[in-house]
Amino acid sequence: MIVTIDGPAAAGKSTAARLLADRLGFRYLDTGAMYRAAALAAMRAGIDYRDLSQVDAVAGGINLSWAGTHLLLDGEDVTDAIRSPDVTEATRYVADSPRLRERMVSLQREIGRVCDLVTEGRDQGTLVFPHAECKFFLTADARERAKRRAADYAAQGKHVAWEDVLRTIIERDQADLSRPVGALRRPPDAFQICTDGLSVEDVVRQMEALVRKRQLELS
Ligand code: C5P
Repeated sequence: MIVTIDGPAAAGKSTAARLLADRLGFRYLDTGAMYRAAALAAMRAGIDYRDLSQVDAVAGGINLSWAGTHLLLDGEDVTDAIRSPDVTEATRYVADSPRLRERMVSLQREIGRVCDLVTEGRDQGTLVFPHAECKFFLTADARERAKRRAADYAAQGKHVAWEDVLRTIIERDQADLSRPVGALRRPPDAFQICTDGLSVEDVVRQMEALVRKRQLELS
């Protein structure tokens, strides 16, 4: 079974997806991490990551693999390195590359072919797994999302002003919504959950109940 969770940056997708996957005994896939690692690869290659033709040219050589929940780039664990504000900033440009998206989509589908999956991103329920058995779309107010992301940075010992986080989130929303391929869209058949004012536990409980219901319908 494939469960997709899409939505804008910092809507609470990652934590909810990880917990939901644990409860269902499914594998969890963080597709944003894959685009982030691709951005890190582009930065390390010294190319101009705003130039799509340069990203397209290196996309085929990006070597990503998963070791459990750790993401490896050329065998090196980059799970923490891909969370820096610099990588976050570069990712939205890199993610516009059609060749890179093609490659990521095929890696994601390969994983979905071999196991039950809770996969999280922007295009999972629309483009990557249009036939997923259960789809969610998580939203939250941009100011609320900026507060959460600023708290994440603070927990990592990085102090980024809340206003800067909000500005970055709004810019990323615009980039994610206007991308020619793989743009953020609510799948018409997705359950939409607004996470404002809800605890992670509330969100995961709602999602788990809906997935279990779907499992019963399909059995
Ligand atoms: O989910 P996260 O915030 O880590 O994603 C980082 C960026 O990667 C997003 O802002 C988006 O530009 C890109 N992304 C994407 N498609 C996905 C997941 C993430 O384009 N499926």
